[in-house]
Amino acid sequence: MTGGTGLFISFEGIDGSGKSTQARLLAEQLRGDGHEVVLTREPGGSPGAEEIRALVLQGDPDRWSAETELLLFTAARRDHLERTIQPALARGATVICDRFADSTRMYQGLSRGDLRAAVDALHERMIGVEPDLTILIDMDPAAALPRAKARATAEERFEDFGLPLQEKMRAGFLALAAEFPDRFRIIDGNRAPEAVARDVRAALQART
Ligand code: ADP
Ligand code: TYD
Repeated sequence: MTGGTGLFISFEGIDGSGKSTQARLLAEQLRGDGHEVVLTREPGGSPGAEEIRALVLQGDPDRWSAETELLLFTAARRDHLERTIQPALARGATVICDRFADSTRMYQGLSRGDLRAAVDALHERMIGVEPDLTILIDMDPAAALPRAKARATAEERFEDFGLPLQEKMRAGFLALAAEFPDRFRIIDGNRAPEAVARDVRAALQART
């Protein structure tokens, strides 16, 4: 599968770092500039993938092995790609995605043993697409976790694991940014939303 002509932007970072907020602000800004924007998220972003989201983020997480969980997240991504992302890119829309494959590299690749090789193999075989630009909202988990916790929802899969896991994820995301320097930009999330949004826009302008 190959990307179309539109620009594909992903937001990554630990729970509560402000990804959803920044993805929304960027979408609003680009729409205001007259662009067609598809704002979407993972897991989810298509009807089938939203069904899988409920399987992986609600209920007893221990009912899935680490490998089964990886397959479920990848199945959700494949459906999202087929039904939402590829058609949007093909018609020239900008796609802004709240989390994408880098989240799988981190959460399924690192949190329950080292499954990174399996994550990468499955990604290459079944997804094969990377964003043009990945904005990593970097943040101290001690500051981000209360933000994430303040949102009372039924979906608490990884933020439930607390600070040590979030510290590991933060370090892992920074290492991923070093691994893929061409598409990653790191932005300090521990500031007012407008200040973060200004840096997001600057990163996009530098890219295009
Ligand atoms: P994420 O998608 O990374 O989990 P959200 O964008 O949903 O993060 O933000 C988590 C919570 O923190 C929300 O209640 C949101 O309103 C708030 N928030 C987001 N960005 C900031 C910021 N820069 N400063 C303070 N609070 C923020
Ligand atoms: P999300 O709704 O983005 O949560 P938050 O707004 O708190 O960041 O994502 C839900 C959870 O799903 C989050 O804890 C990370 C996890 N996740 C994975 O484990 N693997 C994945 O591939 C993706 C996309 C998300």
